Amino acid sequence: MRWRDRGLTAILDRGPRRARRPAATTRKMESTMKLPISGLSGLGLCLLASAALAQDAGDPDAGERDFRQCRSCHSILGPDGEAIVKGGQVGPNLYGVDGRQAGTVEGFNYSDDMVAAGEQGLMWNLEDFTPYVQGPSGFLQDYTGDGSARGKMTFRLRNAEQAPDIWAYLVSVGPDGGS
Ligand code: HEC
Repeated sequence: MRWRDRGLTAILDRGPRRARRPAATTRKMESTMKLPISGLSGLGLCLLASAALAQDAGDPDAGERDFRQCRSCHSILGPDGEAIVKGGQVGPNLYGVDGRQAGTVEGFNYSDDMVAAGEQGLMWNLEDFTPYVQGPSGFLQDYTGDGSARGKMTFRLRNAEQAPDIWAYLVSVGPDGGS
């Protein structure tokens, strides 16, 4: 392993789980760069690679601010019930939502369609979270293949760019946060 690979991996290891994906892409790019190509296109590839990394990682600080839109309905309560964010109870606790099967917070009364999506294999991750928060019922229809599916979340995130930041924030306050 060359040092650059190791450096990248170390950075990625600290990011959200999903951020590891671009590492493979980056490695592929690096091996492409061993071919005799011009320095200019090599630079282009580097810029592309770092843009992909920056985009995927999300900014937890910005996400913490953007989470204000969610807290009227969602709290973030840690394992001992301590409030990381004291918010509403209309929606389920979002502590540890990264990798959690959809529709499974005990005692929360989910829509049948959210429970169905979870049973069909929906485990929350950035790729599914992003379209979900922008249009919950539409996402559930796509995911379950049931055109009449309706979720209970009556909120849509208007600014799509905030989704990766909010996700990064949720990961950072979760059980594996910061590791
Ligand atoms: C108006 C209230 C409301 C707001 C605002 C709201 N939610 Fe929700 N959310 C809900 C409800 C209710 C559910 C349960 C959905 C269902 O059962 O179909 C839910 C479910 C979820 C789930 C699925 C959780 C699980 O356990 O499967 C996620 C993730 C989520 N919301 C994220 C967010 C984020 C992030 C925001 C802010 C950008 C937000 N929500 C804003 C009410 C809300």
